[in-house]
Amino acid sequence: MRMVDIIEKKKNGQELADEEIREMITALISGDLPDYQLSAFLMAVVFQGMNERETLTLTKAMRDSGDTMDLSKIHGIKVDKHSSGGVGDKTTLVVAPLVAALGVPVAKMSGRGLGHTGGTIDKLESIPGFQVNISEEDFIHQVNRIGFALASQTSNLAPADKKIYAMRDVTATVQQRSLIASSIMSKKLASGSDAIVLDVKCGDGAFMKDVSEARSLAETMVKIGNGAGKETVALITNMAEPLGTYVGNNLEVIEAIEALKGNGEPGFMEVVYALGAQMLLVGKIVSSKEEAYKKMKEAIEDGSAFLKFKEFVSSQGGDVSYIDDPSKFPKAKLTLEVHSDRKGYVNKIHTEAIGETVMRLGGGRAKKDDVIDMTVGLKIQKKVGDMISEGDTIAVIYGNTKEQLAQAEKEVLMAYEITDKNIDKIPMILDEITQ
Ligand code: URA
Repeated sequence: MRMVDIIEKKKNGQELADEEIREMITALISGDLPDYQLSAFLMAVVFQGMNERETLTLTKAMRDSGDTMDLSKIHGIKVDKHSSGGVGDKTTLVVAPLVAALGVPVAKMSGRGLGHTGGTIDKLESIPGFQVNISEEDFIHQVNRIGFALASQTSNLAPADKKIYAMRDVTATVQQRSLIASSIMSKKLASGSDAIVLDVKCGDGAFMKDVSEARSLAETMVKIGNGAGKETVALITNMAEPLGTYVGNNLEVIEAIEALKGNGEPGFMEVVYALGAQMLLVGKIVSSKEEAYKKMKEAIEDGSAFLKFKEFVSSQGGDVSYIDDPSKFPKAKLTLEVHSDRKGYVNKIHTEAIGETVMRLGGGRAKKDDVIDMTVGLKIQKKVGDMISEGDTIAVIYGNTKEQLAQAEKEVLMAYEITDKNIDKIPMILDEITQ
């Protein structure tokens, strides 16, 4: 195979043979594929696309480019859950202990936040003592013992994706369905679970801005997962406004604790229950959604979901006294209420901008090595469709300097579009893809 022939074929819209795709990934990993050829190939894919078979072959080759987790020593059907990334998305912190309390083994690898979206690993690190780097042996042992473990993704998981993603980032080739789907699914397949529930976020704060784009990405990922022998389902959920009430690391952990105690914001809980129901279904714990909802509500009410979260935190070295008494979490030095300068209805929230404001407050990373301030963030008090009077508090800012607060206040006011027109609330669950 000559790489130039593969590029030529793709450029002309021809299908690549499985062997050609596999050889290309082998060459990439051994260092024999120069950057200029990889970038030309990626651009050809952006213009010509890849069919289902090519996308599946690419994903499997990327999965096999590094370590794959062997979770066969864990009893039961292991279920993974993945979010395509959003603002205020603390769903994993609630849904994973919830379904684990009901008998679904959750062995989850998570990533850190980058840019305007937060990462579960960073949020958990706001709990003093919490360890995200645990050995494979301890990870497996913990899932068998308490039903749930969550670790930081190992560096050698799907290394082909790391190289391809870095190249996509600098060659304007990120936004292509087969490339996004193979990137996400290669890591999921390498993580070793038996079934996968995908939460494809849709809206201003997400990668996919409209429902048809999100649906087509979700369908591609579901086909890849099932094609690789893992039962895979996807929900498309609303990210046209921040999820829940808080955005920011320890603020979101506190919100998750409250949700596990039965005090979750209704829209957020809708997403938690919808994803949880899918996890219970693919985990074969329930046979209908009705049964799933009933069991999940009971597990919140009787405290078993909260107890599971405490067991999980304690097992990974976290100080459980913070979970029992969240007022112990350190707080930002200053707070500022943002007041609306007009009356009307919230028509739109520029959610990506909200995520970027939190990042600039110090709550996220602009660059990989930035250190996060766990205490800063926003409370989102008004959501899309809410009526507002002049002077109402729309958000609260948590920051450490007056300058930070003043800048964030301007940004939050700009992120809210308030109009005279009354618009409907956006549904939280936009679609469900099971085949
Ligand atoms: N997340 C990933 O892991 N890869 C993509 O391409 C996009 C989002």
